[in-house]
Amino acid sequence: MNGAKPEGARSEEEAAQWVRGMFARVAHRYDLANHLLSFNIDRHWRAHTARRVRHILEEPGARVLDMCCGTGDLALALAKGREGSVLASDFCHPMLTAARAKAERRRSRTVFFEADALRLPVRDASLDLITVGFGFRNLANYAAGLAEMRRALRPGGAAAILEFSQPRNPAFAALYGFYSRRILPLVGGALSGSRDAYIYLPDSVRKFPSAGELADAMRHATFRDVAYEFLTGGIVALHLGRA
Ligand SMILES: C[S@@+](CC[C@H](N)C(=O)[O-])C[C@H]1O[C@@H](n2cnc3c(N)ncnc32)[C@H](O)[C@@H]1O
Repeated sequence: MNGAKPEGARSEEEAAQWVRGMFARVAHRYDLANHLLSFNIDRHWRAHTARRVRHILEEPGARVLDMCCGTGDLALALAKGREGSVLASDFCHPMLTAARAKAERRRSRTVFFEADALRLPVRDASLDLITVGFGFRNLANYAAGLAEMRRALRPGGAAAILEFSQPRNPAFAALYGFYSRRILPLVGGALSGSRDAYIYLPDSVRKFPSAGELADAMRHATFRDVAYEFLTGGIVALHLGRA
């Protein structure tokens, strides 16, 4: 397992820089493009993730971080109905600005801060739950990302990784392949004004390890009770593990 490698990036630093710049360019239209291009199913994926970790969210003092939070949709789904606050971090300033405005509109107590997921500014073993929604795939080094999550989680703490995967059924996979390679760059590009972002998206999904490989990498990073489930025919997979 390596990490995201956008075209032309020659090092992990350049890959991270490209990813940060790309999200900065699409931040103003990120939510609209997401909901439209997924036919609103993305809301269901995040709500499902929140349900799967609800038992932790219900613990009054549980310390919860949503990393690579983007415009905050997963963090806000986690925070919904929760007594305590949820922490949420991202390394792209325009995405955080959009997230903060949304949280204010919804009167959410989510606390946003700027941070690289590979260098979280939190103490060892200080968190009970770390989630990441559609952000893990963009990390410049997947093993380093898992090691950082593992470091920040207390023993027994949980990690939840929601990420694109590959559809299971060959006919559905072919249809989805056509949609993501042909339609997505056209519509996403027109909506956001940044076609390269929506060429990178299906490309990064195609290069991302399979669900089984990601589960193995989590075990290798010493997560235990690792399990995953496919959502929407395998377009997305949710991985869970314990530190
Ligand atoms: C596809 S968006 C997902 C946003 C949100 N979690 C969601 O569910 O819509 C990926 C986010 O990951 C962030 N990201 C990528 N690499 C990162 C890193 N190394 N550290 C922090 N954030 C990162 C990007 O800035 C972007 O906002």
